[in-house]
Formats: sequence, structure tokens, C-alpha cells
Amino acid sequence: HGKTKKAEPVKVCITGAAGQIGYSLVYMVGSGAVFGTNTPVVLHLLDIAPMMGVLNGVCMEISDCALPCVRELYLLMTQQLPSKILMQLFLLGQCPAKKGQALDQHAKKSVKVLVVGNPANTNALICSKYAPSIPKENFSAMTRLDHNRAQAQISQRLGIPVADVKNIIIWGNHSSTQFPDVSHAIATVEGKDVPVYDAVKDSDWLKGDFITTVQKRGAAVIQARKLSSAMSAAKAASDHMHDWWHSTPEGKFVSMGVFSDGSYNTPEGVMFSFPVTLKNKQWTIVQGLPIDQFAQGKLDITGKELCEERDEALAVCKE
Ligand code: LMR
Repeated sequence: HGKTKKAEPVKVCITGAAGQIGYSLVYMVGSGAVFGTNTPVVLHLLDIAPMMGVLNGVCMEISDCALPCVRELYLLMTQQLPSKILMQLFLLGQCPAKKGQALDQHAKKSVKVLVVGNPANTNALICSKYAPSIPKENFSAMTRLDHNRAQAQISQRLGIPVADVKNIIIWGNHSSTQFPDVSHAIATVEGKDVPVYDAVKDSDWLKGDFITTVQKRGAAVIQARKLSSAMSAAKAASDHMHDWWHSTPEGKFVSMGVFSDGSYNTPEGVMFSFPVTLKNKQWTIVQGLPIDQFAQGKLDITGKELCEERDEALAVCKE
């Protein structure tokens, strides 16, 4: 029977896997949500030495989930980065320079890196700087959580499913200076595609409370949970890698922190969140979107913060 050809296993590596985000993400990857339910995964779960006991528990649970996609499962200490990994998910912010060096030595040059640990954009930049043999396009920072938060806000406001809201943009840093922008977003209302601005009909809200709610959502979750967001962060990491792996559908774009080439008058060389399309496992910044004065002001603020963060981080690296 089983004549359907099984895909090659994808080697996945998750650092900080014993943490809160890891706890949700490992299941998502193992269940096929990222690479597809027909793609087996080889999971390498990494964390620091004091977390090995907890990580062992996570491995026991993953094993007990009896997930058909999980082909092999390895528990490793952070410094034992496995060789020839295809996909890598970085979860913790610590030591992006060391992780970059380890990637430089051990990873496949086609490795795709998602940095989640804060400050995510600048950590991704530093990680890439210490892995000069890997193309800088293979590094990214997660702003998909902000993107998803913005999408949820709009869908609730309009009383429509989240899937009926697309092309939201998160510009800049994964911080409170980010600019959640719906001026190019589309909502499907009663079967028709309309600009979100026309559907919401409240530009004061879209230019005011909507933006601050998304900017401050991480802090609001921390206040409520007494812990950082974890489930939603893992879902966003899963979405980010899913789209990188499978491409974005025609006419749809997503937000991703990537190396700025100066598009939209942004500072070159920082990890800036842009609208991107994904194809053949490569991202392309969506070009030509009109930027009004309001938006330009917001882009400038977050760009300035990213330059400051970069300069501080590089100064620390030199010490
Ligand atoms: C989030 O956006 O939920 C987190 O980045 C917040 C944080 O500081 O951990």
C-alpha cells in the first residue's frame, strides 16, 4: 500500500528548548504544523546544562505524544550544536555571538535561522555577524507575533475570522517602537475584499489605540501572566518557519525581520521588519507601497532605535 513517497526528514534544532516557548513549539514542530504532516522531522533540542533535567522531561513528553512526524529526537547541551542542520530555531536571547560562531562551524550553509530571544532583531544581526560563512539572508528575527496580534485585533474589531484579514505590516523592531500598519491590509467582508481602512471606518483608532495596543501587547501579557507570552510566541515562530518553508500564496505578504537593504528609506544593515513574500525558501521585500508622512515618521523612529541597539551591541562585542 504506502506508495506515497515520504519526504526527506528535516533536521530541526531548537535552542532554549526547555523554556516556556520551547514547550509549545516542540509540539507544533513535532505535529507537522511547520513542515507539513508528511514531512518527518529530526528534532535536536538544546539548552544549557542546568536545564538538562527539565529538557529530559520535555523529551519524555514528546516521545509520549507518539507523533508520527518525529523520526528522531536528540537532547543536547547548548555547546553541542549538531552538524548539518537544515533549520534552526533560536529561542533564547543569550550569546548570539557564540551561537553564530557555532553555526559558522557546524551548520549547513543553507540553514535558516529564526531568532526569537529579545532583543530579537539585534540578536539576529549579531548572530549573523559571527557566522560570516552563512548567507546573511538566512538569518531572520521574529515579528510574526506582532503581525498575528495586529491581525487578531482587526478581526475582532470587524467580527470576521482572522483568516479574512491579510497583508498587515509590522515595520521595524520587535519592541514598543514597532509600527503596525494596516494601510495596505485587506479584509474580506461579506465575500468582498476591501481595504481595512474602509472596513473599520475609524482612522483615529487605526492610527491611535490599535497601534499602541499591538506595541504594548507583550508587556500586557507579561503583566497578566507574570510570564512572557509563550504559546503565541511559539505559534508565531511556527508560522514564520512554515511560510519560509512553504512560500507565501500569491497576493499575500507577511512580516519578517530581515537585513535592510535601505528599502523605504530604512537604515541599511539593521534587521528591520518588512513586508515580505517567500518563494523557494527565499524572502523578497515587497516594493513600491506608498508611504505617507504619518508612516514615514513611524518608520524613522523604529529605524533609529534599531541603529542605536546595533551600535550598543557591536560596542559590547568589541569589549
Ligand atoms: C512579547 O512580545 O510578548 C515579548 O517579546 C515580550 C517580552 O519582553 O518578553
